[in-house]
Amino acid sequence: MAASIDELPPRVLSGIQPSGTLHLGNYFGAMQQHIALQDEFPGQSYYFIADYHALTTLRDPAALRQNVFDVALTYLACGLDPDKALLFRQSDIPEVTELTWLLSTVTGMGLLERAHSYKDKVAQGIKPVAGLFFYPVLMASDILIYRSSLVPVGKDQVQHIEMTQDMATHFNETYASEAPVLRRPEWRLSKTPYVPGIDGRKMSKSYGNTLPLFLSGKKLKKAVGQVVTDSTPLGSPLPLTRTNDEGETTKENVYALLELFCDDAELAQIRGWYQAGKRDGQDFGWGHAKQFLAGKIEAHFAQARARREHYLAHPEEVEAVLERSAKQARALARATIDDCKRACGLR
Ligand code: ADP
Ligand code: TRP
Repeated sequence: MAASIDELPPRVLSGIQPSGTLHLGNYFGAMQQHIALQDEFPGQSYYFIADYHALTTLRDPAALRQNVFDVALTYLACGLDPDKALLFRQSDIPEVTELTWLLSTVTGMGLLERAHSYKDKVAQGIKPVAGLFFYPVLMASDILIYRSSLVPVGKDQVQHIEMTQDMATHFNETYASEAPVLRRPEWRLSKTPYVPGIDGRKMSKSYGNTLPLFLSGKKLKKAVGQVVTDSTPLGSPLPLTRTNDEGETTKENVYALLELFCDDAELAQIRGWYQAGKRDGQDFGWGHAKQFLAGKIEAHFAQARARREHYLAHPEEVEAVLERSAKQARALARATIDDCKRACGLR
């Protein structure tokens, strides 16, 4: 190994599963932060499309291929700069599965049995295949193989990062106590860890309550029109909260979505329209608030939509980014797996 793992530069890594059309929750909860980090860690930002992970739930080859392309396209459209950040397919780095095995030999069954996400997925009716149970080991390998120091994720993934920390420590203690070969990563939560869906629950493709990123025009207006609002009309002294189906008090949905797009001054103005039921002397009701939101969404993603059109017309450019990034990521992965194999006595 060239340098001790403590001397390595900070390195950001995150993955997103290609399991369906990306929505506002994915963007504000994950992608936006990933893209912003490319400026904080230029040349050390690694993002990948977790296609091996997706196989634990998606068994339609054509859909998987399409989803992988969509995720790549969406990152590039939303501003991922391939000169600053890598974007690659998980399955293009076979060393990841090699390290998964090595990690499994130091991972207690109890650790995996405690994973919330496995239990949640099984409770949702997903078939409890071994791969689903093993998911956190593959995820730890994704992180450790690039010796990542920082992993931006949503709240639901924090336990997986804690498991990754345990696996790194166990591996080092078991095989490399003198000169550790794996680096312990830290997690970082996005600033917007909760985006409500059109029904007020967390926006998620499993709830069918999403606003896809690239809707526009009439389709966007129609989708935003379905956002569930309060039965009290605007103009009465409204609390900016509502009670959802689970009895929890949450922010009023339209306002919570507007918060993603508006600065403080604009939000103050919007609160004024809500309270008065008027905007510039004209009536302002829920329908107007939703139209305003649709306009904000449309404008926010206008540039991304244009870039998306470009990449849709040039899919070979998307593929070139994936391949170039994989080549670079793989060199790093190879070095880590060589160190790990040597540490275990496999070399
Ligand atoms: P979904 O719930 O639609 O299946 P994923 O679990 O694939 O979404 O999430 C991919 C990424 O997007 C994760 O980092 C997750 O934390 C983030 N994310 C998904 N939905 C939301 C949401 N409603 N609010 C904030 N972040 C979200
Ligand atoms: N499990 C993550 C999710 O569902 C995706 C993922 C796979 C990931 N490997 C990762 C995220 C490594 C961060 C780091 O969102």
